[in-house]
Amino acid sequence: MDASFTKNILTMNKKILLILLALSMSSFHQVAAQKINDDNTAIESKIDALLQQMTLEEKIGQMTLYTSDWDVTGPTMRSGYRKDIEAGKVGAIFNAYSVDYVRELQSIAVENTRLKIPLMFGYDVIHGHRTIFPMPLAQAATWNMEAIEHSERIAATEATAEGLNWTFTPMVDVARDPRWGRIMEGAGEDTYLTSRIAVARVKGFQGDNLAADNTMVACAKHYAAYGAALAGRDYNTVDVSDRVLRETYLPPFKACVDAGVGTFMTSFNEVDGIPATGNEYLLREILKKEWDFDGFVVTDYTSIAEMVPHGIVADNKEAGELAVNAGVDMDMQSGIFNDYLAQSVKEGKVKISDIDDAVRRILRIKMMLGLFDDPYKYCDKQRQDTLIYHPEHLAFARAFAAESMILLKNQNQTLPLSKQTSTIAVIGPLADSKKDMIGAWSAAGDFNKSVTVLEGIKAKLPTQRVVFARGCEVDGDDRSGFDEAVTLARRSDAVVLVIGETKEMSGEAASRSEITVPGVQQQLAEALIATGKPVVVVLMNGRPLDLSWLDAHAPAILEAWFPGTQAGHAVADVLFGDYNPSGKLTVSFPRNLGQVPIFYNNKNTGRPMSADKYTSKYLDVANTPLYPFGYGLSYTTFQYDNLKISSPTLTNNQKIEVSVEVTNTGKMAGHEVVQLYVRDLVGSVTRPVKELKDFRKIYLEPGAQSVVTFGITPATLRFLTRDMQWAAEPGEFEVFVGTDSGTTQSVRFSYSP
Ligand code: GLC
Repeated sequence: MDASFTKNILTMNKKILLILLALSMSSFHQVAAQKINDDNTAIESKIDALLQQMTLEEKIGQMTLYTSDWDVTGPTMRSGYRKDIEAGKVGAIFNAYSVDYVRELQSIAVENTRLKIPLMFGYDVIHGHRTIFPMPLAQAATWNMEAIEHSERIAATEATAEGLNWTFTPMVDVARDPRWGRIMEGAGEDTYLTSRIAVARVKGFQGDNLAADNTMVACAKHYAAYGAALAGRDYNTVDVSDRVLRETYLPPFKACVDAGVGTFMTSFNEVDGIPATGNEYLLREILKKEWDFDGFVVTDYTSIAEMVPHGIVADNKEAGELAVNAGVDMDMQSGIFNDYLAQSVKEGKVKISDIDDAVRRILRIKMMLGLFDDPYKYCDKQRQDTLIYHPEHLAFARAFAAESMILLKNQNQTLPLSKQTSTIAVIGPLADSKKDMIGAWSAAGDFNKSVTVLEGIKAKLPTQRVVFARGCEVDGDDRSGFDEAVTLARRSDAVVLVIGETKEMSGEAASRSEITVPGVQQQLAEALIATGKPVVVVLMNGRPLDLSWLDAHAPAILEAWFPGTQAGHAVADVLFGDYNPSGKLTVSFPRNLGQVPIFYNNKNTGRPMSADKYTSKYLDVANTPLYPFGYGLSYTTFQYDNLKISSPTLTNNQKIEVSVEVTNTGKMAGHEVVQLYVRDLVGSVTRPVKELKDFRKIYLEPGAQSVVTFGITPATLRFLTRDMQWAAEPGEFEVFVGTDSGTTQSVRFSYSP
């Protein structure tokens, strides 16, 4: 690499870094969001006064959420929602946005109804509103909490500019089964990291003042344990112990409550035999009593009605009664509250006090949003015209997407590609596909504005030096395009092959029974690799895939996920070294489907995995993941030395420090995510072989060294003991520090309170 090239890279790297840094230091990053609680007596007394005036039907109307017909995110639609609003039967509308449309619907509520209670407007702003960011599982791979929070700040800025004030985000479902299509929507397999990211998302959306015109109320979903669906089949049964529920799946939700999240959404699945939407243990016992949550709970799409096919109730009326009695405050789309709840109250099957509590929670959020002061506050044409796709948003999206990508393999420094490469063949069905760049759950994102990989590479090199062939489709067995692709590859100096899944192959109701690269794309890769040309595989997918063959044969593999509006520029920035990849997996990639579920923080068992016969292992595959949790390569190399611990013993109210020297031993500046794991060697219940407890993302120039220090206190060691109490137990511990969950150095210490 000649000096000027390196200099250019460093300059570009610095530019991208400055974007990230500058934006992450911006004024958006306020203190933690306020907790939604009744300290604000002014609001509470206003609610009291309003409740006094409301009829039972008007109260039930506030407990109802209907979709508009602007988007379809579930199995049913209803045409009469305008009339329902006018009849005072609607508290909120979702899937409706834009200043004009929101103003139109809001005016029905605040000008034509008796009490003129304003509507909330909700939407699935899952990874950006108009400017689409990488899908959430990709964002998690940045391990950059400030950037994640900032992306939600931008999403909230754009969404509120189009009339919205409620987002059905963050999705905080821990997931360990790549067959499940919604694994793309969360933060992966680890509870601690999912909790950290959940807080960043809530703070990003809610800021420190819900009454501001650029903040919106967030929604922790899907409560609870939706990611544990049996066999990764969406909506399927969840059967976990109370211990696993509380230790693995609930902490991210609790983190949302502590961050002041305003709403929760129930999940479709049952938990321990009772659908979450009718589960009093989850909703009243844990969420509203133990955690003292005083926002409101909305169901998922028609999930009240779906308790009939679940077989927990005989009909819709019973379903409505079970939901309210269990602690549901708002019914999304089934209309069952409007149809039956008044009758149920009159029959004494539902208490009016529960109705009043639900309405109080809903009105509290509306008042904290400032909607009673100005129902049209989110209908500002000037904001809509100036903030959507703002250049700063697009610049951040490009840098954020580059940071989310993971270098899985880079044999013989195949990457970065030189900008002096005379001809690059860009091949593959996803290389020029605008629609797939923004991934699933991209809501109001306009895929026509997305940049394809082909466009991104053409923006880096003179067009005549970039040639393209599709080669094949994502799915199907048509190989008729192979010859053209192979011919092009033979005539080129390097190949960039962009393959993976379509955006429809992940997301909701998109489970796959296979996790291979679909269709004949792998066969196309075989044909191209057989030419002997350097082939860089760029993957676009919504889940971990079985990459065993590609890992064995492709010289370089970049996991790009679905990178969003600026996809092509971000991929090109990484491929040509203008950004040194720093992403780290937050979900294990298995060697094959048979290994699933496979995750890093597993239990040791009584016959731990080893080459010995009588041990817990498969005979036909190496018993480690292909790529472990926390894994990701860089264009440079990092060396870890001198792991130290400040004391071999930890006592109560004390902190010990673990430090390690990290050196950039390569030729390029880059980021490294230094990870800290802890193992409790003996507990009153069995403990995982390691658990992520902290991490630091650092940046080092070539040759530079940093001493990274972590603090360990008794709180770090807490878990659910045998008597189901959160506590740290005395004994021996091992602390691991390293570049991924499988590559660490360790040192032991003991904790004696
Ligand atoms: C969907 C999803 C949920 C989404 C809701 C509204 O079915 O499960 O995540 O927020 O409906 O679109």
